[in-house]
Amino acid sequence: MRIVLLGPPGAGKGTQAKVLSERLKVRHISTGDMLREAVKDQTELGIRALTYMKAGELVPDDIIIALIDDTLRDTDCSQSFVLDGFPRTERQAQALDKLLTVRKMPLDMVLYLNTSPEVSVTRLSGRRVCANCGINYHITNMQPKIDGICDSCQGSLIQRPDDKKETILNRLDVYIQQTTPLIDYYQRRGLLKECSGDLDVEALFEALKSLFEEKGLLIA
Ligand code: AP5
Repeated sequence: MRIVLLGPPGAGKGTQAKVLSERLKVRHISTGDMLREAVKDQTELGIRALTYMKAGELVPDDIIIALIDDTLRDTDCSQSFVLDGFPRTERQAQALDKLLTVRKMPLDMVLYLNTSPEVSVTRLSGRRVCANCGINYHITNMQPKIDGICDSCQGSLIQRPDDKKETILNRLDVYIQQTTPLIDYYQRRGLLKECSGDLDVEALFEALKSLFEEKGLLIA
């Protein structure tokens, strides 16, 4: 099973990708998480990516395509994965097609979480992440048991540097300019399945489950 999750910042791609990867027992590949890890470790990739990420701009295609090419070589990605945050430009989508054609493993579905800008802004400005393990919370939608503390590892919850209001607005602009053409790209290939990203976490998961059922695939 090879799936892409498509949608604006704050659509809930990361949240749903985590659940889907657990339920389907497939690898969750998040370019955003990989880049944040590289920034934290101050690797060459992280140092190159940081300026773009801080500004809410996309990291250049060549860097991201090389990162995905490398990741797809891992044995646990050899057949199945959920891609979250990639592709984000037409060039990345074409590169993914090529990488998957060579491996004879075409995409099964592109799940498009169609989300209103107001919802994106509310979710991103209220998001808090664990500085230690990276788990996502939200100040109203997904609260931790103890304010400011991660339920899972007791790390401190912080705001992502790119979740500041001005950067959020730029990320949404970048999404409209560079990523929305992929809706048509995947529609033309008959891969696109759409649902509302404005639904709450459980309702959205149920909507995604129905899209799998339309393809004859059951999620337990
Ligand atoms: P990335 O980390 O991919 O950021 P993004 O696409 O902007 O997505 P987000 O993580 O902000 O949102 P999401 O849709 O995953 O929502 P989430 O589930 O977290 O990328 C960051 C940066 O890295 C980019 O700006 C770019 O610089 C670079 N980058 C990454 N990939 C790249 C690429 N391919 N090419 C070039 N550059 C790249 O949820 C958000 C919040 O809402 C959370 O607080 C959550 O708790 C809450 N929430 C989630 N779902 C719901 C729901 N259904 N109802 C209510 N609340 C919800």
